[in-house]
Amino acid sequence: MRDDSLIRRPPDPDRPRRYHIKTWGCQMNVHDSEKIAGRLEDRGYRRADDEHDADVILLNTCSIREKAEDKVYDELGRLRRLKESRAGLVVGVCGCVAQQEGERILERAPHVDAVLGPRAGGTLGDLLDRIDRGDSGGRVGGRAIADTALRRDSIDFPFERIRRDGLDARKAYVTVVEGCNHRCTYCIVPTTRGREVCRSSGEILREVAFLAAKSVIEIEFLGQTVNAYRDPEGRTLADLLRGAANVPGVRRVRFTTSHPAQMTPELISAMAETAPVTSPYLHLPVQSGSSRVLAEMKRGYDREGYLRRIAALRERLPGLCLGTDVIVGYPTETEADFRETLSLLEAVEFDTCFSFAYSPRPGTAAAAIDDPVPLAQKLERLARLQELQKGIQFRRAQRWVGSAVEVLIEGASRRQDREWTGRTPENRVVNFAGHGSVGQLQWVRVVRASAFSLRGEPCTPGESS
Ligand code: 5AD
Ligand code: SF4
Repeated sequence: MRDDSLIRRPPDPDRPRRYHIKTWGCQMNVHDSEKIAGRLEDRGYRRADDEHDADVILLNTCSIREKAEDKVYDELGRLRRLKESRAGLVVGVCGCVAQQEGERILERAPHVDAVLGPRAGGTLGDLLDRIDRGDSGGRVGGRAIADTALRRDSIDFPFERIRRDGLDARKAYVTVVEGCNHRCTYCIVPTTRGREVCRSSGEILREVAFLAAKSVIEIEFLGQTVNAYRDPEGRTLADLLRGAANVPGVRRVRFTTSHPAQMTPELISAMAETAPVTSPYLHLPVQSGSSRVLAEMKRGYDREGYLRRIAALRERLPGLCLGTDVIVGYPTETEADFRETLSLLEAVEFDTCFSFAYSPRPGTAAAAIDDPVPLAQKLERLARLQELQKGIQFRRAQRWVGSAVEVLIEGASRRQDREWTGRTPENRVVNFAGHGSVGQLQWVRVVRASAFSLRGEPCTPGESS
């Protein structure tokens, strides 16, 4: 039976409806949540920091690794109990797990009112219409919404309406390409986010100018394969870097995530030409140091090709900091393959490295391969790799000691009053004590360096010891 009395609330100016979004995963997901928040705020909803104050709770999910689905179902179990105690509460699942699981979510968790894949944000409006009409929980005839269409027009989101979180810190994400045309065997992303769609460069640069006019000084261009960007006029990421660096007020431009096979000489030149506005930091996932494993993964480059690109980058950009992703324990990875990954880490000396034990993702090519590498062995390799990388990072970080770096303050440190944390143009995390405020640029002299962050003291521009 429908219980309209509790849900039929005409928009009340004194008590706007509230939403709460819980986000997992990468920058694209964080930015998708900002777009979803924009749609909700457009309809008069206001953010609730606490889920207990919310009328609509959305989970924006990630399915890149491990038991992502289980985590979401656990969370939904908890929300079922919340829903039982709060009539009218609407619960939706968005993002990659929504795409991967689709209607299965409604079967396993019948209290869910909407399942919206990463390119189905437009359908959120239908859900809100239903709620406005008083359809219980946004349901018509008891039916929830499930939309997992991979629409190409999802990329055309009006940027003025995005509800951005980083504005205090004067940072903003800007989508340039959605989806991925690669077919790396272990990866769920092409399934959950579909094929590449690129925004027009004119629109992207209008967004950058709009943000700069709002005092944003750091732009991060986003794409699952950001350097695959090519608009209908043939403009590339290199053109976007040149365009953004010319926008008055823009002090830092970053981009993530790049694919090694698409790291073209033109892009490297554009990074060099636009330095230091384009960040001297590049995240370039290698995944494995073994050419045999890279071929099995269908990565489109081998060990030597990757190392050649690193050499070309370092030649043009001597101060470049590098980060990478590595998967350990891919099916069929031998101890010898793994050692090649270790030796690649030693050869390149990345400043940061995100490493993961391989986990099969439903429907991917790798999930169908017999996997003779037991989990315990994957975890043992992962620990060895992390130990090695920690030493490399520690050594790499020491070169900052004594130098002055410009830090964009991102937040207050959790530990102490007047303790700040921020990042250098090279994406190094710096902590320091002193006067400051979020979003301020502050020069800091580095006094200590650990594997994961630098510690410093405020100083005047350019001052080092
Ligand atoms: N198992 C483990 N790690 C994975 N990644 C992607 N898919 C998997 C998987 N099935 C890692 C890759 C990628 C990062 C975002 O997540 O290293 O670059
Ligand atoms: Fe996944 Fe490969 Fe595409 Fe990256 S490039 S999103 S790893 S398929």
